[in-house]
Amino acid sequence: MEESRIETPARALSGIGRAVQGAIYAAGAYGHKPKVPVEPAALYAAARRRMSPQAWSYVAGSAGMQRTDAANIAAFERYPIVPRLLRDVGERSLGVSLCGHDLPAPVLFAPIGVLEMAHKEAELAVAEAARSLGLPMVLSTQGSVPMEQTAKALRANPMWYQLYWSNNDDLARSLVRRAEKSRAQAIVVTLDTPLLGWRTKDLDLGYLPFARGEGIAQYLTDPVFQNLVRDRVAEVPEEPARDERVSRRDLSSERPTLTAIRTLASITRHYPGRFRDNLRSPLPRAAVETFLDVFPCPGLSWDDLAKLRDWTSLPVILKGIQSVDDARLALEHGADGIIVSNHGGRQVDGAIASLDALAAIAPVVDGQVPVLFDSGIRSGADIFKALALGASAVLVGRPWLYGLALDGAAGAQAVMERLLAELDLTMGLSGIASIDQITRDCLST
Ligand code: GLV
Repeated sequence: MEESRIETPARALSGIGRAVQGAIYAAGAYGHKPKVPVEPAALYAAARRRMSPQAWSYVAGSAGMQRTDAANIAAFERYPIVPRLLRDVGERSLGVSLCGHDLPAPVLFAPIGVLEMAHKEAELAVAEAARSLGLPMVLSTQGSVPMEQTAKALRANPMWYQLYWSNNDDLARSLVRRAEKSRAQAIVVTLDTPLLGWRTKDLDLGYLPFARGEGIAQYLTDPVFQNLVRDRVAEVPEEPARDERVSRRDLSSERPTLTAIRTLASITRHYPGRFRDNLRSPLPRAAVETFLDVFPCPGLSWDDLAKLRDWTSLPVILKGIQSVDDARLALEHGADGIIVSNHGGRQVDGAIASLDALAAIAPVVDGQVPVLFDSGIRSGADIFKALALGASAVLVGRPWLYGLALDGAAGAQAVMERLLAELDLTMGLSGIASIDQITRDCLST
């Protein structure tokens, strides 16, 4: 039955198209429709209905007028697939080798922060979904669950760690070391978010999850960060500069509102330790303030990347590349891989579609390092197109989060499994038997 989770060992992904399709139709014969919609627009609409306006705005919203987000999606229309016939595609394989590891399919769970907004089990549910499919999960620095716990839930499943460098090198190094100890196979450094983008929908709700203590679990459990918080509390408070008074209002000096009380309760609940003790402590609020201080790192430059080589022996993959020149710089600076991504359109409004960036960048990198892709994938056919344009693998983000919101681990699994199923069927219907056969010739332009 479609609703029961399929225990899918990695090798079983061949034939996944017919297996998933067959299970859904078989359940339909008994009157059961999929709990998590298959059709992307229906999935989006169902998740929107399920999530709070704040969670929806944060997850589905993008920068400014949402033009980059729209461009990401629209770009897929410009690269039509040309199916080929009678090529014996009876046996198909989705398997690939990436950064020295064999994967059942060229698909990863993209890093997404603040998963508690979608489901209370957050990363632990996603770990279960990733494990059932054998696909790597990329853990977010803005996670809701400390990385060590997620790593435990993933067991032997591949895990990568996404780093927000922050403006404190000791903290960045500590996060990288923890990831390495947690058996991460790669460090993904997100370069497109030295500052948070202009997120119009979140701004209109006045909503930033981190200010409520959400999505900062990696920091709260980090020894370097904890020291920064203690130092902050120990410091004699100075009169804040005027612009700081404006941008960072002190909740205790406001007339208490229900939202203010909820915010304080949320901060207190998220801080490690007992709620009652935290209520009396200055640490939880200082932790949120410390986070807001350390997160931006607009001073980071290419030369800083060398530090990572001292901090870790893991492959370093640079995420957020959109220009050919930056791809060249990434190679010059010894990146082990790049991710062509514009953060799902969440950072710069009116920017190039990530798929167009991929089409320009992949031929220049020319196989020297893996080129991964994200931003805009909504279907298995989209995955096929990105691979045809030169991606070694793709990361999928919002779609599985919508599944997570609707049905926890089973929902996230269902969404990813269907993407793989559609990829498999798209290959079979296009005369392609293995991932390496998906080349530029499969597209008409
Ligand atoms: C953080 O990663 C965000 O996109 O909000």
